Amino acid sequence: MLDGKTAVVTGGSSGIGRAIAQKYAAEGAAVVIGDQKEEPRRAELPTVETIEKEGGEATFVSTDVTEYQDVVDLVEVADREYGSVDIMVNNAGILQQTLLHETSSEQWEELMDINVTGVFHGSKAAIQKMLEQDSGGNIVNISSISGSIGRANAPAYCTSKGAVTMMTRQNAIDYGPKGIRVNAVGPGGTLTSMVYETMSEERREYLEMQTPLRRLAEPDEIAEVATFLASDMASYVNGHVLFADGGFSIS
Ligand SMILES: NC(=O)c1ccc[n+]([C@@H]2O[C@H](COP(=O)([O-])OP(=O)(O)OC[C@H]3O[C@@H](n4cnc5c(N)ncnc54)[C@H](O)[C@@H]3O)[C@@H](O)[C@H]2O)c1
Repeated sequence: MLDGKTAVVTGGSSGIGRAIAQKYAAEGAAVVIGDQKEEPRRAELPTVETIEKEGGEATFVSTDVTEYQDVVDLVEVADREYGSVDIMVNNAGILQQTLLHETSSEQWEELMDINVTGVFHGSKAAIQKMLEQDSGGNIVNISSISGSIGRANAPAYCTSKGAVTMMTRQNAIDYGPKGIRVNAVGPGGTLTSMVYETMSEERREYLEMQTPLRRLAEPDEIAEVATFLASDMASYVNGHVLFADGGFSIS
């Protein structure tokens, strides 16, 4: 589905980003992973080694998405190694769980830098390259249902994901005429370290019961949606935030 494409995935060492990188590679894309750490949080082998073992092509670039120059370098490596940048997945993100009046300015800025400015950096660097290439492209942002329906005890996180959702829609308007589609996935609770490290078992079970499918998502299930959005199967989908939440948001 992605034969001959080059995809950049931020935060691709762990969780949802790792699953997307693996799925894109399995679908024929060369994948360049930009993450602060190469070591995965819940797997044995780094993503690049896993992809190579499965017969795919991948490269890791140490990247902090809050640093614009890091992200420019990441995109340059993709172009140099594989000849183009066709897909940018802005996935790197963090969660904080504090009430607003207990959130320090430093915490707020840290989260906004990664979850919002990181997406701005990834989009800007990739879109500049795509415009130079003049062959269109795809931006896939990883937002969250929390950016649309909210969630208790996560004011900075929900605000950041609301911004990512709006950046997706706004960028889709400006770059659609250039053949660059901009979409987002809005996952519900997904079984990654973000959930395992921040959610009690009780809370997880409660969320499962509130979800019509009665379970949280596997990262692979979010990767399938991110693959659809980046593929020609979604050739007329632009500015859309596709919720993959087992029906949580409508229940
Ligand atoms: N897990 C969920 O329930 C869930 C639900 C909705 C949306 N999301 C979103 O999915 C995305 C991925 O989350 P996940 O659950 O896979 O989390 P995760 O913690 O498993 O993975 C996040 C990855 O991002 C990387 N990262 C963090 N800060 C970075 C930075 N400054 N620069 C580069 N890389 C950085 C981490 O090193 C890690 O590899 C996030 O944007 C998150 O908000 C997750």
